[in-house]
Amino acid sequence: MSATSESDIGQGSGDEQPTRRDFIHLMSGSVAAVGAAAVVIPLVHQMNPAANVLALATKEVDLSAIEVGQAIKVMWQGKPVFIRRRTEKEIEEAAAVSLGQLRDAKARNDNLSGSDDATDGNRVKASDGEARPEWLVVVGVCTHLGCIPLGTAQGEVRGDYDGWFCPCHGSHYDTSGRIRKGPAPENLAVPPYQFLSDAKIKIG
Ligand code: FES
Repeated sequence: MSATSESDIGQGSGDEQPTRRDFIHLMSGSVAAVGAAAVVIPLVHQMNPAANVLALATKEVDLSAIEVGQAIKVMWQGKPVFIRRRTEKEIEEAAAVSLGQLRDAKARNDNLSGSDDATDGNRVKASDGEARPEWLVVVGVCTHLGCIPLGTAQGEVRGDYDGWFCPCHGSHYDTSGRIRKGPAPENLAVPPYQFLSDAKIKIG
């Protein structure tokens, strides 16, 4: 009488009969598929932007409490954004600067194409393409090494050009947020924003 090995089980009565090995392979394949699905489903779920994430992607700001000459800082997508309600003098100073005086002649305004120049009019355009010189909206991150420039809070030094001053290495920005002196290579970026009403904007 010969011993029956595992490989013999199920054999002898026809090739169509599944062996124990087939069964084990089938089961391990099913377990692997279920495991993969269990991993994939949460991943797909994580990729759907949740409502709170979408809410963080944009920021609505009420401008009605900002007086002429004042600026505020709000946080948008983890970055500070400066909103300044400029005085007539600040607007005139910014408008009087020619492109040849600028270190960075690009508008750096996400509401425009990348080729627009850095006239003050282009720096204060929202997503509808309309310039509102009273309102300047810029990302408050120095384009040198990423410090947060001074000049937003009341009484803070604003640098040689009355805009913002980054004390980290001495960059001076003008009343249009354009780099005028110091090591920063680019103007402060203008984020995408739109006016929801005369006194409310949505950033992002
Ligand atoms: S980070 Fe602003 S001047 Fe260096």
